[in-house]
Amino acid sequence: MADQQARTGGDKRPRRIPAIRWEEPPEGPVLVLLDQTRLPAEEVELVCTDAPALVEAIRSLAVRGAPLLGIAGAYGVALAAVRGFDVAEAAGALEGARPTAVNLSVGVRRAQAAHRAVLARTGDPAAAAAAALAAARTVHADDAEASARMAAHGLALLDELLPGGGLRILTHCNSGSLVSGGEGTAFAVALAAHRKGRLQRLWVDETRPLLQGARLTAYEAARNGMAYTLLTDNAAGSLFAAGEVDAVLIGADRIAADGSVANKVGSYPLAVLARYHHVPFIAVAPVTTVDPDTPDGASIDIEQRPGAEVTEATPPQVSTPRAGGGIPMAPLGTQAYNPAFDVTPPELVTAIVTEKGVVSPVTAEALVQLRTRSPQV
Ligand code: MRU
Repeated sequence: MADQQARTGGDKRPRRIPAIRWEEPPEGPVLVLLDQTRLPAEEVELVCTDAPALVEAIRSLAVRGAPLLGIAGAYGVALAAVRGFDVAEAAGALEGARPTAVNLSVGVRRAQAAHRAVLARTGDPAAAAAAALAAARTVHADDAEASARMAAHGLALLDELLPGGGLRILTHCNSGSLVSGGEGTAFAVALAAHRKGRLQRLWVDETRPLLQGARLTAYEAARNGMAYTLLTDNAAGSLFAAGEVDAVLIGADRIAADGSVANKVGSYPLAVLARYHHVPFIAVAPVTTVDPDTPDGASIDIEQRPGAEVTEATPPQVSTPRAGGGIPMAPLGTQAYNPAFDVTPPELVTAIVTEKGVVSPVTAEALVQLRTRSPQV
């Protein structure tokens, strides 16, 4: 079915610009980002010379996705330290840039702790800045390693739950190399299935209102030569009803202690559909996304975004709708409900895949045990 709409990835050009990189030109260190608001139309670099510029890049979603926010936050602290700005002030601003993805705070705090420890021991700001940068590089490298492990664990889980035959996987939002030091979370599992010859089709939800699925996941699927098909978010129901979905794979921005999973708005309806249609619903996330300090789903701070992202469209050459100045899609003054994330309760989550292995069934006790495990190969 839907073969007329299906598109096997034809655009296999490698991406020129990594999602994030630290550079040290003669003018001084900078953090270089691939501006994700401009994809897929163009690959444009965004150069941040200080933490406020990075905060703005985070808010505008030029840099986004939970693991990458952690990496960016850590480099942001290093940037402030190396350039001699107030590190505590920069850390506070970075942590507060977006509220839902816990990885942002984790990354910021790791770099800040390294900076503070060396400053207290040596009193040397240059040594402390070097320690913050080393911590950021470690956060970056750890994420690449975690990504590879999650892909292996996720593929093994799919083989166990759905042995033999091609897999039709539905995913929401973007969770590939654009959000990671490696190949991502949920997308990395689909990519591993593709490389093993098991992926029959990747169903890509467009992911309203900012189109992370259409603009970013389709872009990554095409570059990896995966068979993928784009659908509007509200077409998912009929796709399930037609028996065309074997598994749902999503990432996560924060997993509460009870196993509630916050992810891009539209994930929860997919979990409800998956349960009704007896399809596994799997969240893939590094252990840093599990937040023991957030007891349950109701305690997760859900970011509310500007209504104009819903009420206005922007011309096609500007990929991401920005608040104000777009083409009206609703009468002037229309109020919009625009949460960026929703929460799926643990009882609807078949499994959580991490670099330390798989949690299934998803319970508070299993998550406590997970955090004490060492990563499994
Ligand atoms: O608003 P975004 O684009 O930052 O939202 C990203 C998501 O919801 C992803 O699915 C999530 O960060 C997990 S990606 C590993």
